[in-house]
Amino acid sequence: MSADPHQQALIKAARRLGIETIYDGDPSQSPCDRVIYRTRERSVTIVEGCIYPGLTPQVDALCADKHRTKSVFRQCGIPSPRSIQLDRNAADLQQQLETFWADAPSGSQVVCKPTLGTNGEGVTMGLRDIESLYTAIQRAASDTLVIEEQADGYDLRLQVIGDRVVAACIREPAYVTGDGHSSIGQLMADRDRSIQTQNPQNRLLVNDETLQLLEKAGMTVDDCPAAGEKVTVKQVANIGQGGMAIDVTDTLHERYQAWVDCLAHSLPLDIFGLDLISPNPQADPKENHTVALEVNAQPQWLHHTFSERKQHDIPKLILEYLLQL
Ligand SMILES: Nc1ncnc2c1ncn2[C@@H]1O[C@H](COP(=O)(O)OP(=O)(O)O)[C@@H](O)[C@H]1O
Ligand SMILES: [Mg+2]
Repeated sequence: MSADPHQQALIKAARRLGIETIYDGDPSQSPCDRVIYRTRERSVTIVEGCIYPGLTPQVDALCADKHRTKSVFRQCGIPSPRSIQLDRNAADLQQQLETFWADAPSGSQVVCKPTLGTNGEGVTMGLRDIESLYTAIQRAASDTLVIEEQADGYDLRLQVIGDRVVAACIREPAYVTGDGHSSIGQLMADRDRSIQTQNPQNRLLVNDETLQLLEKAGMTVDDCPAAGEKVTVKQVANIGQGGMAIDVTDTLHERYQAWVDCLAHSLPLDIFGLDLISPNPQADPKENHTVALEVNAQPQWLHHTFSERKQHDIPKLILEYLLQL
């Protein structure tokens, strides 16, 4: 049995749909988890549960690079936050930062993230001055970084299958809700266990970001919040880091589908995730300063299967699409 939670979900869906599954090669020999899904008419191979046959190495590399992806956003008329890409070893680093900062509206905040990052790892948000930006750059795990204006709004994630937006959810950074007697550390450990039952790869762990957020709020992990009190323990809204997914598919504004049509044809790619920041997913994104952050060419979609309000059978939709059922 595959150890990958996305592949496991696909295998379960295949069993329900009467689709044959075959492990491609010896999993102990191959570093990749490859499964063939086969009907009488067709077969497809899915690697690690999220690499589908339509993804070419060129498109994969384009989407992995947050700076290059912006050229496709521009081509499709999709706004994205103003940004620069820089090498932190560049001789003129200070000059580049000053030029970037000079054009930022006063009071704005900046994000520093690896050009090739995933899962919210290494993303530093809320940088308010050039000194803290400089510190974030020096602490970053990568040399090549994107420095970007921080957008306000909900973290909106769209799942696209065969050019269609099939699911949309907003993601909230991880929080815990007090019960009057457990400490923040205990509440986080409880939620960590519970989210691992949804996807064993998702974790809610205390890290520097947690400690800084709590310190700003005048708290520590040993404090016990009052019953019902909500304490935010992460800044980034990634599900992999304990974030909550709240489904908004049924009320999503129709322009998102038009944007996805253009992206699907321009990249080109048929199955992907699109990350945006939107103040209100129901409203026209052209008119409310919605911006696109990145295209996930190897999309994680399990959160749509356990989101709040509505759940989607994404593995079934993927198999039906790929096998033309
Ligand atoms: N410019 C930005 N404005 C607001 N939030 C951002 C911005 N860039 C990143 N974030 C936050 O960080 C998260 C991760 O950033 P993203 O660009 O999607 O990279 P990845 O998911 O590959 O790590 C986003 O989901 C969002 O919460
Ligand atoms: Mg992302």
